[in-house]
Amino acid sequence: MHKICVIEGDGIGKEVIPATIKVLEATGLPFEFVYAEAGDEVYKRTGKALPDETIEIALDCDAVLFGAAGETAADVIVKLRHILDTYANVRPVKAYKGVKCLRPDIDYVIVRENTEGLYKGIEAEIDEGITTATRVITEKACERIFRFAFNLARERKKMGKEGKVTCAHKANVLKITDGLFKRVFYKVSEEYKDIKAEDYYIDAMNMYIITKPQTFDVVVTSNLFGDILSDGAAGTVGGLGLAPSANIGDEHGLFEPVHGSAPDIAGKKIANPTATILSAVLMLRYLGEYEAADRIERALEEVLALGLTTPDLGGNLNTFEMAEEVAKRVREE
Ligand code: NAI
Ligand code: MG
Repeated sequence: MHKICVIEGDGIGKEVIPATIKVLEATGLPFEFVYAEAGDEVYKRTGKALPDETIEIALDCDAVLFGAAGETAADVIVKLRHILDTYANVRPVKAYKGVKCLRPDIDYVIVRENTEGLYKGIEAEIDEGITTATRVITEKACERIFRFAFNLARERKKMGKEGKVTCAHKANVLKITDGLFKRVFYKVSEEYKDIKAEDYYIDAMNMYIITKPQTFDVVVTSNLFGDILSDGAAGTVGGLGLAPSANIGDEHGLFEPVHGSAPDIAGKKIANPTATILSAVLMLRYLGEYEAADRIERALEEVLALGLTTPDLGGNLNTFEMAEEVAKRVREE
């Protein structure tokens, strides 16, 4: 039995999560779904965006499946990642057949450091009109995120990928913080002689994910840069409706679409469930359920290739109809 903490959250979280649960149930695996609240709505009602009870459930379950928060995102998802110490935010960028992508051969993973950098949240107003934010980079956090990235490249190499890690930073300007980031990257790379190591400045990297995305395998970067880079990367493979993520730590795993609560389309049942379904696929692999994960991904690939999609990809199905096309194939296979 897999005990899953399910947090729908706000906006389209309330649509893409139930749709994905149907797909998970179609695998026939034994799940216990424990529902918990977080986000703008519970904040308005109780004054707390991330209730203590939700934290307890998240800590107690085998994995967390999260939809989206709205304006309280910093107090919900950024905080939850810290509490669970899920230090690696893994964001696959992959072109699927039937989806309008920049190129058909895009297949890499962005690994974003999830616990520090500018998202440590150390901000202050020094005086009226004068504000500051502190960018925390520690050797310890660098070492573990780089080891995670190199280990991932090793896993991917076994499956026929190049075996390369690209580090994106701004060490020429942020000389001390990213100076450390870059130095530790090459130090850790010494332990992985079988994996190539290269680095680019983050601004150039932002261009390269558009001009030569097919050359990347594993891309590792700091928290804010990874946040920005991954939405851009999502845009090259069909948009935010397709971008999944896994937050991985030594003891916990939290799985969520890259997108937010999308208030512009919330309630219309037109949100693409793919990003959340693919996040559930990452969750199943984390739980060791490889066969079920592959079955869902194959079903989803077929559904995308047939154009049985939500309007963002040119189809005319709603969120639940698209998910049902996937669930049906998962059940039948
Ligand atoms: P967003 O990711 O919610 O939406 C950006 C654009 O992508 C919108 O045009 C939206 O309609 C579209 N989009 C997103 N997901 C989609 C899907 N599944 N299918 C089709 N189209 C989709 O980002 P935005 O608009 O900047 O922020 C909205 C709210 O979400 C804000 O309150 C923000 O704080 C919050 N947010 C929460 C996150 C989280 O909980 N992890 C992450 C990012 C934003
Ligand atoms: Mg983001």
